[in-house]
Amino acid sequence: MKRTITDLVNLKGKVVLLRVDFNVPLDNSGRIVDDTRIKNEIPTIKYLIEQKARVVILSHLGRPEGYDVHKSLWPVSLVLAKYLPCNVSFCNTVIGQEAKERIKLLQEGNVLLLENVRFYKQEEECDMKFSREIASMGDIFVDDAFGVAHRKHASNFGVARILPNAIGFLMEKELTNLNQILENPKRPFVAVQGGAKVETKTKILEKFIEKADTILIGGAMAYTFLKVLGQSVGRSKVYEESMESAMNILLKAKQAGKKVLLPIDHVCARMGDPSKVFVTDQLGGDMVAYDIGPKTIELYKNEIAGAGEIFWNGPMGMYENAAFSNGTYKIAESIAHAKGHTSVGGGDTVATVNLFNLAKGFDYISTGGGATLEYLENGSLPAIDVIQEKIR
Ligand code: 3PG
Repeated sequence: MKRTITDLVNLKGKVVLLRVDFNVPLDNSGRIVDDTRIKNEIPTIKYLIEQKARVVILSHLGRPEGYDVHKSLWPVSLVLAKYLPCNVSFCNTVIGQEAKERIKLLQEGNVLLLENVRFYKQEEECDMKFSREIASMGDIFVDDAFGVAHRKHASNFGVARILPNAIGFLMEKELTNLNQILENPKRPFVAVQGGAKVETKTKILEKFIEKADTILIGGAMAYTFLKVLGQSVGRSKVYEESMESAMNILLKAKQAGKKVLLPIDHVCARMGDPSKVFVTDQLGGDMVAYDIGPKTIELYKNEIAGAGEIFWNGPMGMYENAAFSNGTYKIAESIAHAKGHTSVGGGDTVATVNLFNLAKGFDYISTGGGATLEYLENGSLPAIDVIQEKIR
């Protein structure tokens, strides 16, 4: 088990470098459209300020190439200040004289947010000189940035290799939930996997074959599997290069005695004419499937209703278009109302749950996209591995 912030003693007056994931969505004018990632971080920051630490926060925002005023963390500091009972200030650099001066002036129980670490190319290169410069400004490192823990960057992996360290409350919550799914899922465990590309889902599907009892497949990826089984899919998207992977997944599931369900009916349109939408059990000709049909929804809903554990990743169809969003909505709704333990992960899928206003119905909504899936696939992430173990 990793050391957590409650294992750290005598934080009074210490400079705690706290790595968070404030990679919040922005609209075209740079306004924050969803501050969930900021709100999720408040318990860790509050704990540190209650311990009278001097809290210096590091984060990335977007994928800037060098300095980009539209990717500054300054607006985030204003939102953060609304949620905290202390002084929150902002420094427009990460390293150098200015940052050092500002940290020297930082009072106990107050917070200083540094500028976007990705404005420095050394961040993604995990440059050790850059990591050492950051580390030299603090006494202790706390990593609470689960969403970026699959990246081996200077401000998470690099700094953790230098300073005494621990994980924060959010990281702890993520690990507890994901470990439960991996190590002790309630039965039956139903994994719901949607989305488009088969290739990016191969590892997670293999993990589900190992850990889950039933896998429900939806989204564009389903049509590659149906084609492998010899079914006609009309002109629906098939990833020819992934036919072999899809075949291997079906074979592995069969050998392991696991149930894999695929759509039995489809909401579709004719190629080049999305105006006439219809439902069919039998795809063919120039039909293109864009969503799962009502019989598939019923079939999947039954599995979900009887499940002890449900993990959902990936939409069931082209939900961005209202004509093809019903499958994703109905599956999201049935998971939200299920009696089993329910989790959702993956950036798009979480956005879907929020869009449908169903977040309250889920037991756990992971803050990670790629990080969540990689953790489920491998049971570890580089920036977490490097954190010290708890002393028993
Ligand atoms: C995320 O939003 O998934 C994390 O903040 C990681 O961002 P990245 O994919 O740009 O590294």
